[in-house]
Amino acid sequence: MLRQVLLQAAGSTWVRDLVQATPVTRGVVRRYVAGTEPFDAVTVCADLVGTGRTATLDHLGEDTTDLATARAVRDAYRQVLTALSDAGLTDGGRVEVSVKLSAVGQALGRDGEKIALEHAHDICVAAAEAQTTVTLDMEDHTTTDSTLSVLRELRQDFPWVGAVLQAYLRRTEGDCADLAGAGSRVRLCKGAYNEPASVAHRGNDVELSYVRCLKVLMGGEGYPMVATHDPRLIDLAGALASRHHRAPGSYEYQMLYGVRPAEQQRLADLGETVRVYVPYGTQWYGYLMRRLAERPANLAFFVRSMASKA
Ligand code: FDA
Repeated sequence: MLRQVLLQAAGSTWVRDLVQATPVTRGVVRRYVAGTEPFDAVTVCADLVGTGRTATLDHLGEDTTDLATARAVRDAYRQVLTALSDAGLTDGGRVEVSVKLSAVGQALGRDGEKIALEHAHDICVAAAEAQTTVTLDMEDHTTTDSTLSVLRELRQDFPWVGAVLQAYLRRTEGDCADLAGAGSRVRLCKGAYNEPASVAHRGNDVELSYVRCLKVLMGGEGYPMVATHDPRLIDLAGALASRHHRAPGSYEYQMLYGVRPAEQQRLADLGETVRVYVPYGTQWYGYLMRRLAERPANLAFFVRSMASKA
Protein backbone atom coordinates (compact mmCIF):
# COMPACT_ATOMS: atom_id res chain seq x y z
CA MET A 1 0.00 0.00 0.00
CA LEU A 2 2.73 2.47 1.09
CA ARG A 3 4.76 1.36 -1.94
CA GLN A 4 1.89 2.33 -4.24
CA VAL A 5 1.43 5.72 -2.53
CA LEU A 6 5.14 6.47 -2.94
CA LEU A 7 5.14 5.38 -6.57
CA GLN A 8 2.09 7.55 -7.25
CA ALA A 9 3.84 10.48 -5.55
CA ALA A 10 6.81 9.85 -7.88
CA GLY A 11 4.65 11.17 -10.73
CA SER A 12 3.24 14.21 -8.90
CA THR A 13 4.69 17.53 -10.04
CA TRP A 14 3.60 19.61 -7.01
CA VAL A 15 5.05 17.12 -4.52
CA ARG A 16 8.18 17.02 -6.66
CA ASP A 17 8.60 20.82 -6.61
CA LEU A 18 8.14 20.88 -2.85
CA VAL A 19 10.51 18.00 -2.09
CA GLN A 20 13.19 18.82 -4.66
CA ALA A 21 13.87 22.11 -2.88
CA THR A 22 15.70 19.95 -0.31
CA PRO A 23 19.48 20.15 -0.76
CA VAL A 24 20.97 17.00 -2.26
CA THR A 25 23.41 16.87 0.63
CA ARG A 26 20.65 15.88 3.05
CA GLY A 27 20.60 12.35 4.58
CA VAL A 28 18.69 9.91 2.44
CA VAL A 29 19.09 11.90 -0.80
CA ARG A 30 22.84 11.85 -0.37
CA ARG A 31 22.79 8.10 0.22
CA TYR A 32 21.31 7.37 -3.20
CA VAL A 33 22.46 10.32 -5.35
CA ALA A 34 26.12 11.08 -6.13
CA GLY A 35 25.58 14.87 -6.25
CA THR A 36 24.27 17.50 -8.64
CA GLU A 37 27.33 18.24 -10.83
CA PRO A 38 29.26 16.15 -13.39
CA PHE A 39 32.30 16.61 -11.13
CA ASP A 40 30.45 14.81 -8.29
CA ALA A 41 29.57 11.95 -10.61
CA VAL A 42 33.10 11.59 -11.96
CA THR A 43 34.52 11.62 -8.42
CA VAL A 44 32.18 8.85 -7.26
CA CYS A 45 32.94 6.77 -10.38
CA ALA A 46 36.69 7.20 -9.82
CA ASP A 47 36.27 5.95 -6.23
CA LEU A 48 34.29 2.91 -7.42
CA VAL A 49 36.83 2.06 -10.12
CA GLY A 50 39.57 2.46 -7.49
CA THR A 51 37.95 -0.32 -5.45
CA GLY A 52 37.64 -2.73 -8.38
CA ARG A 53 34.04 -1.96 -9.31
CA THR A 54 32.66 -0.50 -12.55
CA ALA A 55 29.82 2.00 -12.97
CA THR A 56 26.97 3.14 -15.15
CA LEU A 57 26.17 6.83 -14.84
CA ASP A 58 22.63 8.22 -14.98
CA HIS A 59 22.06 11.94 -15.59
CA LEU A 60 18.85 12.24 -13.56
CA GLY A 61 15.71 13.36 -15.34
CA GLU A 62 12.62 11.79 -16.87
CA ASP A 63 9.33 12.66 -18.57
CA THR A 64 10.82 15.65 -20.39
CA THR A 65 8.00 17.83 -21.76
CA ASP A 66 9.85 20.18 -24.17
CA LEU A 67 12.43 19.84 -26.91
CA ALA A 68 14.90 22.29 -25.36
CA THR A 69 15.14 20.17 -22.19
CA ALA A 70 15.50 16.97 -24.23
CA ARG A 71 18.43 18.58 -26.10
CA ALA A 72 19.95 19.79 -22.84
CA VAL A 73 19.85 16.25 -21.41
CA ARG A 74 21.58 14.93 -24.55
CA ASP A 75 24.25 17.62 -24.18
CA ALA A 76 24.70 16.80 -20.49
CA TYR A 77 25.44 13.18 -21.43
CA ARG A 78 27.95 14.28 -24.06
CA GLN A 79 29.61 16.56 -21.52
CA VAL A 80 29.86 13.92 -18.81
CA LEU A 81 31.17 11.30 -21.28
CA THR A 82 33.98 13.70 -22.19
CA ALA A 83 34.73 14.32 -18.51
CA LEU A 84 34.79 10.57 -17.77
CA SER A 85 37.04 9.93 -20.76
CA ASP A 86 39.41 12.75 -19.76
CA ALA A 87 39.62 11.17 -16.31
CA GLY A 88 40.61 7.85 -17.92
CA LEU A 89 37.51 6.04 -16.65
CA THR A 90 35.75 4.90 -19.83
CA ASP A 91 38.27 2.56 -21.54
CA GLY A 92 36.81 -0.89 -22.08
CA GLY A 93 33.47 0.25 -20.70
CA ARG A 94 34.63 0.53 -17.09
CA VAL A 95 32.26 3.47 -16.70
CA GLU A 96 29.35 3.65 -19.16
CA VAL A 97 26.07 5.61 -19.14
CA SER A 98 22.42 4.68 -18.63
CA VAL A 99 19.82 6.73 -20.48
CA LYS A 100 16.06 7.11 -19.94
CA LEU A 101 14.44 7.72 -23.32
CA SER A 102 11.71 9.83 -21.70
CA ALA A 103 14.45 12.25 -20.61
CA VAL A 104 15.64 12.75 -24.20
CA GLY A 105 12.22 13.26 -25.80
CA GLN A 106 10.26 9.98 -25.99
CA ALA A 107 7.17 11.60 -24.46
CA LEU A 108 7.10 14.57 -26.88
CA GLY A 109 3.95 13.64 -28.78
CA ARG A 110 3.82 11.90 -32.16
CA ASP A 111 7.48 12.57 -32.98
CA GLY A 112 8.67 11.63 -29.49
CA GLU A 113 10.16 8.27 -30.40
CA LYS A 114 12.00 9.75 -33.39
CA ILE A 115 13.39 12.62 -31.28
CA ALA A 116 14.49 10.21 -28.54
CA LEU A 117 16.18 7.98 -31.13
CA GLU A 118 18.11 10.92 -32.60
CA HIS A 119 19.26 12.10 -29.18
CA ALA A 120 20.15 8.59 -28.02
CA HIS A 121 22.09 8.13 -31.28
CA ASP A 122 24.08 11.31 -30.53
CA ILE A 123 24.86 9.98 -27.05
CA CYS A 124 26.02 6.67 -28.58
CA VAL A 125 28.39 8.57 -30.90
CA ALA A 126 29.93 10.28 -27.86
CA ALA A 127 30.12 6.94 -26.01
CA ALA A 128 31.86 5.30 -28.98
CA GLU A 129 34.42 8.12 -29.03
CA ALA A 130 35.00 7.53 -25.31
CA GLN A 131 35.30 3.76 -25.97
CA THR A 132 32.41 2.88 -23.75
CA THR A 133 28.79 1.72 -23.93
CA VAL A 134 25.22 2.92 -23.36
CA THR A 135 22.34 1.08 -21.70
CA LEU A 136 18.72 2.17 -22.23
CA ASP A 137 16.86 2.20 -18.90
CA MET A 138 13.32 0.80 -18.98
CA GLU A 139 10.44 2.92 -17.71
CA ASP A 140 6.73 2.13 -17.26
CA HIS A 141 5.08 -0.53 -19.41
CA THR A 142 3.48 1.97 -21.82
CA THR A 143 6.99 2.71 -23.13
CA THR A 144 8.34 -0.86 -23.43
CA ASP A 145 7.57 -1.42 -27.13
CA SER A 146 8.86 2.01 -28.10
CA THR A 147 12.07 1.55 -26.07
CA LEU A 148 12.75 -1.87 -27.59
CA SER A 149 12.12 -0.42 -31.04
CA VAL A 150 14.67 2.37 -30.40
CA LEU A 151 17.08 -0.27 -29.10
CA ARG A 152 16.80 -2.25 -32.34
CA GLU A 153 17.49 0.90 -34.40
CA LEU A 154 20.49 1.91 -32.30
CA ARG A 155 21.97 -1.57 -32.42
CA GLN A 156 22.22 -1.32 -36.23
CA ASP A 157 25.02 1.22 -35.74
CA PHE A 158 26.08 0.40 -32.16
CA PRO A 159 25.62 -3.34 -31.50
CA TRP A 160 26.81 -2.87 -27.91
CA VAL A 161 23.80 -0.80 -26.77
CA GLY A 162 22.27 -2.53 -23.73
CA ALA A 163 18.62 -3.08 -22.85
CA VAL A 164 16.80 -3.36 -19.52
CA LEU A 165 14.05 -5.92 -19.00
CA GLN A 166 11.76 -5.92 -15.96
CA ALA A 167 10.90 -9.32 -14.48
CA TYR A 168 7.60 -8.03 -13.05
CA LEU A 169 6.12 -7.64 -16.55
CA ARG A 170 4.26 -10.70 -17.80
CA ARG A 171 5.76 -10.24 -21.27
CA THR A 172 9.40 -10.28 -20.13
CA GLU A 173 10.23 -13.98 -20.40
CA GLY A 174 9.47 -13.69 -24.12
CA ASP A 175 11.52 -10.51 -24.43
CA CYS A 176 14.45 -12.30 -22.74
CA ALA A 177 14.27 -15.08 -25.33
CA ASP A 178 14.26 -12.46 -28.11
CA LEU A 179 17.28 -10.66 -26.65
CA ALA A 180 19.41 -13.62 -25.52
CA GLY A 181 21.44 -13.79 -28.75
CA ALA A 182 25.16 -13.23 -29.25
CA GLY A 183 26.37 -9.67 -28.59
CA SER A 184 23.22 -8.67 -26.74
CA ARG A 185 23.64 -6.92 -23.37
CA VAL A 186 20.57 -7.27 -21.16
CA ARG A 187 20.13 -5.89 -17.66
CA LEU A 188 17.49 -7.90 -15.80
CA CYS A 189 15.82 -6.10 -12.88
CA LYS A 190 12.59 -6.69 -10.94
CA GLY A 191 10.97 -3.41 -12.07
CA ALA A 192 10.33 -0.21 -10.14
CA TYR A 193 7.09 1.38 -11.46
CA ASN A 194 3.47 1.26 -10.31
CA GLU A 195 2.04 -1.22 -12.82
CA PRO A 196 -1.48 -2.68 -13.09
CA ALA A 197 -1.98 -6.40 -12.37
CA SER A 198 -3.12 -6.87 -15.99
CA VAL A 199 0.49 -6.44 -17.16
CA ALA A 200 2.60 -7.15 -14.08
CA HIS A 201 3.17 -9.96 -11.59
CA ARG A 202 2.88 -9.18 -7.87
CA GLY A 203 4.65 -10.41 -4.71
CA ASN A 204 6.53 -13.72 -4.94
CA ASP A 205 5.55 -14.13 -8.57
CA VAL A 206 8.01 -11.33 -9.41
CA GLU A 207 10.91 -13.38 -7.96
CA LEU A 208 9.70 -16.52 -9.76
CA SER A 209 9.58 -14.60 -13.02
CA TYR A 210 13.07 -13.24 -12.34
CA VAL A 211 14.34 -16.81 -11.92
CA ARG A 212 12.78 -17.93 -15.22
CA CYS A 213 14.14 -14.89 -17.08
CA LEU A 214 17.62 -15.30 -15.57
CA LYS A 215 17.69 -18.93 -16.72
CA VAL A 216 16.91 -17.80 -20.28
CA LEU A 217 19.61 -15.10 -20.27
CA MET A 218 22.32 -17.20 -18.58
CA GLY A 219 21.59 -20.08 -20.96
CA GLY A 220 21.74 -17.77 -23.98
CA GLU A 221 24.68 -16.34 -25.88
CA GLY A 222 24.38 -12.73 -24.76
CA TYR A 223 25.86 -10.81 -21.84
CA PRO A 224 23.47 -10.92 -18.84
CA MET A 225 23.60 -8.02 -16.37
CA VAL A 226 22.10 -9.24 -13.10
CA ALA A 227 20.62 -6.12 -11.50
CA THR A 228 19.39 -7.02 -8.04
CA HIS A 229 20.32 -6.73 -4.37
CA ASP A 230 18.30 -9.83 -3.50
CA PRO A 231 20.71 -12.34 -1.87
CA ARG A 232 18.85 -15.40 -3.17
CA LEU A 233 18.89 -14.14 -6.76
CA ILE A 234 22.56 -13.19 -6.52
CA ASP A 235 23.35 -16.76 -5.34
CA LEU A 236 21.22 -18.21 -8.11
CA ALA A 237 23.02 -16.09 -10.73
CA GLY A 238 26.35 -17.52 -9.56
CA ALA A 239 25.01 -21.08 -9.69
CA LEU A 240 23.56 -20.58 -13.18
CA ALA A 241 26.81 -19.03 -14.41
CA SER A 242 28.68 -22.16 -13.25
CA ARG A 243 26.10 -24.49 -14.77
CA HIS A 244 26.48 -22.76 -18.14
CA HIS A 245 30.30 -22.63 -17.85
CA ARG A 246 30.30 -18.86 -17.89
CA ALA A 247 33.58 -17.38 -16.70
CA PRO A 248 33.58 -14.14 -14.66
CA GLY A 249 33.48 -11.35 -17.23
CA SER A 250 30.91 -13.10 -19.43
CA TYR A 251 28.12 -11.66 -17.25
CA GLU A 252 28.01 -9.03 -14.51
CA TYR A 253 26.26 -8.06 -11.30
CA GLN A 254 24.70 -4.61 -11.00
CA MET A 255 23.54 -2.72 -7.92
CA LEU A 256 22.43 0.80 -7.10
CA TYR A 257 24.71 3.42 -5.59
CA GLY A 258 24.13 3.41 -1.84
CA VAL A 259 22.54 -0.05 -1.68
CA ARG A 260 24.44 -3.02 -0.18
CA PRO A 261 27.93 -1.56 -0.80
CA ALA A 262 29.57 -4.32 1.28
CA GLU A 263 27.99 -6.96 -0.96
CA GLN A 264 29.17 -5.05 -4.06
CA GLN A 265 32.71 -5.11 -2.69
CA ARG A 266 32.53 -8.78 -1.65
CA LEU A 267 31.59 -9.83 -5.19
CA ALA A 268 34.23 -7.57 -6.76
CA ASP A 269 36.88 -9.03 -4.43
CA LEU A 270 35.90 -12.50 -5.67
CA GLY A 271 36.83 -11.39 -9.20
CA GLU A 272 33.27 -10.79 -10.40
CA THR A 273 32.37 -7.78 -12.53
CA VAL A 274 30.20 -5.48 -10.40
CA ARG A 275 28.67 -2.37 -11.93
CA VAL A 276 27.18 0.33 -9.72
CA TYR A 277 24.36 2.50 -11.07
CA VAL A 278 25.32 6.06 -10.14
CA PRO A 279 22.68 8.79 -10.52
CA TYR A 280 23.60 12.48 -10.40
CA GLY A 281 21.88 15.79 -11.16
CA THR A 282 19.22 18.05 -9.76
CA GLN A 283 16.17 16.06 -10.96
CA TRP A 284 16.44 13.38 -8.29
CA TYR A 285 12.83 13.32 -7.08
CA GLY A 286 11.31 10.45 -9.15
CA TYR A 287 14.41 8.31 -8.66
CA LEU A 288 14.39 8.84 -4.89
CA MET A 289 10.68 8.04 -4.57
CA ARG A 290 11.24 4.68 -6.30
CA ARG A 291 14.11 3.92 -3.89
CA LEU A 292 11.90 4.82 -0.89
CA ALA A 293 9.14 2.59 -2.29
CA GLU A 294 11.59 -0.34 -2.28
CA ARG A 295 12.61 0.44 1.28
CA PRO A 296 9.79 2.31 3.08
CA ALA A 297 11.86 2.11 6.31
CA ASN A 298 13.88 5.00 4.84
CA LEU A 299 10.82 7.23 4.61
CA ALA A 300 11.00 8.36 8.26
CA PHE A 301 14.68 9.34 7.82
CA PHE A 302 13.81 11.27 4.69
CA VAL A 303 10.96 13.22 6.26
CA ARG A 304 13.17 14.07 9.27
CA SER A 305 16.01 15.27 7.00
CA MET A 306 13.61 17.52 5.07
CA ALA A 307 12.27 19.03 8.28
CA SER A 308 15.71 19.72 9.80
CA LYS A 309 17.36 23.12 9.29
CA ALA A 310 20.84 21.72 8.69
P1 FDA B 1 14.26 -6.13 -3.42
O1 FDA B 1 13.57 -4.82 -3.60
O2 FDA B 1 13.44 -7.31 -2.99
O3 FDA B 1 15.49 -5.93 -2.46
C1 FDA B 1 16.28 -6.99 -1.98
C2 FDA B 1 17.10 -6.44 -0.81
O4 FDA B 1 17.98 -5.42 -1.28
C3 FDA B 1 16.26 -5.72 0.25
O5 FDA B 1 15.78 -6.64 1.20
C4 FDA B 1 17.24 -4.74 0.82
O6 FDA B 1 18.13 -5.40 1.70
C5 FDA B 1 18.03 -4.33 -0.40
N1 FDA B 1 17.43 -3.13 -1.05
C6 FDA B 1 16.73 -3.12 -2.21
N2 FDA B 1 16.40 -1.85 -2.55
C7 FDA B 1 16.88 -1.06 -1.57
C8 FDA B 1 16.85 0.33 -1.34
N3 FDA B 1 16.28 1.19 -2.20
N4 FDA B 1 17.45 0.83 -0.23
C9 FDA B 1 18.06 -0.02 0.63
N5 FDA B 1 18.13 -1.36 0.48
C10 FDA B 1 17.54 -1.87 -0.60
N6 FDA B 1 14.02 -0.63 -12.51
C11 FDA B 1 13.31 -0.30 -13.63
O7 FDA B 1 12.08 -0.40 -13.62
N7 FDA B 1 13.97 0.14 -14.74
C12 FDA B 1 15.32 0.23 -14.81
O8 FDA B 1 15.86 0.62 -15.85
C13 FDA B 1 16.07 -0.14 -13.66
N8 FDA B 1 17.43 -0.07 -13.64
C14 FDA B 1 18.12 -0.60 -12.58
C15 FDA B 1 19.51 -0.68 -12.63
C16 FDA B 1 20.20 -1.31 -11.60
C17 FDA B 1 21.69 -1.43 -11.69
C18 FDA B 1 19.50 -1.83 -10.49
C19 FDA B 1 20.21 -2.55 -9.38
C20 FDA B 1 18.15 -1.71 -10.41
C21 FDA B 1 17.44 -1.08 -11.44
N9 FDA B 1 16.06 -0.93 -11.37
C22 FDA B 1 15.37 -0.56 -12.50
C23 FDA B 1 15.36 -1.09 -10.07
C24 FDA B 1 14.82 -2.50 -9.88
O9 FDA B 1 13.75 -2.72 -10.78
C25 FDA B 1 14.32 -2.73 -8.45
O10 FDA B 1 13.29 -1.82 -8.16
C26 FDA B 1 15.40 -2.58 -7.39
O11 FDA B 1 16.61 -3.11 -7.82
C27 FDA B 1 15.02 -3.33 -6.11
O12 FDA B 1 14.83 -4.69 -6.39
P2 FDA B 1 15.80 -5.87 -5.87
O13 FDA B 1 15.95 -6.84 -7.00
O14 FDA B 1 17.04 -5.31 -5.36
O15 FDA B 1 14.96 -6.63 -4.78
